[in-house]
Amino acid sequence: MPTDRNDPGGSGAAGAPAAVRDVAQPLVPRLRRFGTTIFSEMTALAQAHDAVNLGQGFPDEDPPPPVLAAAHAALDAGHNQYAPGPGIPELRAAIVAHQQRRYGLTYDPDTEVTVTFGATEALAATLLAVCEPGDEVVVLEPTYDAYTAAIAMAGATEVRVPLTPPTVAARAPAGGAGAAPERPAWHLDVERVAAAITPRTRVLVCNSPHNPTGAVLGAEELDAIAQVCTDHGLLAVTDEVYEHLVYDGAHVPLATRPGMRQRTVTISSAGKTFSCTGWKVGWACAPPPLTAAVRTTKQFLSFAGGTPLQHAIATALALPDDAVAAVTASHRVRRDLLVDGLTAAGLPTTRAAGTYFVTADVAPIGWRDGAAFCRWAPEALGVAAVPVTAFVTDPAPVASLVRFAFCKPEAVLREGVRRLTEGVAGPG
Ligand SMILES: Cc1ncc(COP(=O)(O)O)c(C=O)c1O
Repeated sequence: MPTDRNDPGGSGAAGAPAAVRDVAQPLVPRLRRFGTTIFSEMTALAQAHDAVNLGQGFPDEDPPPPVLAAAHAALDAGHNQYAPGPGIPELRAAIVAHQQRRYGLTYDPDTEVTVTFGATEALAATLLAVCEPGDEVVVLEPTYDAYTAAIAMAGATEVRVPLTPPTVAARAPAGGAGAAPERPAWHLDVERVAAAITPRTRVLVCNSPHNPTGAVLGAEELDAIAQVCTDHGLLAVTDEVYEHLVYDGAHVPLATRPGMRQRTVTISSAGKTFSCTGWKVGWACAPPPLTAAVRTTKQFLSFAGGTPLQHAIATALALPDDAVAAVTASHRVRRDLLVDGLTAAGLPTTRAAGTYFVTADVAPIGWRDGAAFCRWAPEALGVAAVPVTAFVTDPAPVASLVRFAFCKPEAVLREGVRRLTEGVAGPG
């Protein structure tokens, strides 16, 4: 019989009744390392100093006019109550048509597609549904922080496989005096994925196009990952939110690789493609047993959300492919503008194959510590960025790398580059 009414399970910290412990430190130990995200910290600094915010990855523009109009129409048409838990049928049908048209992947809208509150909820619902405490989940590093948090919430153990940071190319800079050489791409050494697998590994999380490196995994790398998953009976969870923001090469969903459809939860969302990150409409496509698992947890996280916005995204996904191609093309121009501007300012920068982001090295302009640079730059230069060290456990190999977002209007990017260039060159 428990003797302490405040600690009926007898699990309190030594000598401290649970009620006292809980008030002083309510957050469970496994989540205490998750403070305010670096994105919020840098955005707050940007706002405090009226800096050009190239830190957080959100566009400044509105969704395409037909998508906005569809949201207004849905509100006016009375689509203002709970959606069905798995999502409105019109959106599930649009997701099915999108996966079929773009990738040749066939899903059943009733048993294989779930609409979620952004990709973030889909990721959390999936990991909470399939991981037992003690299971290992393999992720690529640098790591988007939502995976780490969801794995911790599930009580599972994160195992990181680092992508290899690029080394500065040995060729001459193109931008004239003071210009830096462009950095080659980050790459995944797939043998490291195989080496990370243990008998406890349950899930592999694959993010491509990859935040923050901008790397886009090719068919060869994905086939090697697929081989690891099938050899070891792993589930795969993919984060494909940047699927339409690929500038070199093509996006290939892991679920298209041999043996993967039946073991993969394919996750994406509308926010990045259609410039509506605040709408938080995402989805998960997976075979029936995995979908049933995801829906079980998802129904108790949000149940359902954003009914009128679900209608608008059904319209968005049915837009002609040309409309999405225009979004991609405009982001390619912005990527090139930022890469060229940063390299000309003396920061070797990788021309990211995808996403909203490029990574640049601030060491040549005198900063070995990218995090210190990012804390200094909003006030001193009027530009905000995010250190790559925020995405890793071992900062040493990426200490001087900084992530800049280019999902901003060209004028904003030009202003950011101008401030950096002048700040780096110094007053004289
Ligand atoms: C890699 C990655 N996954 C997921 C998300 C979040 O997606 P959503 O807003 O749809 O939850 C982001 C947003 O920055 C991201 O960069």
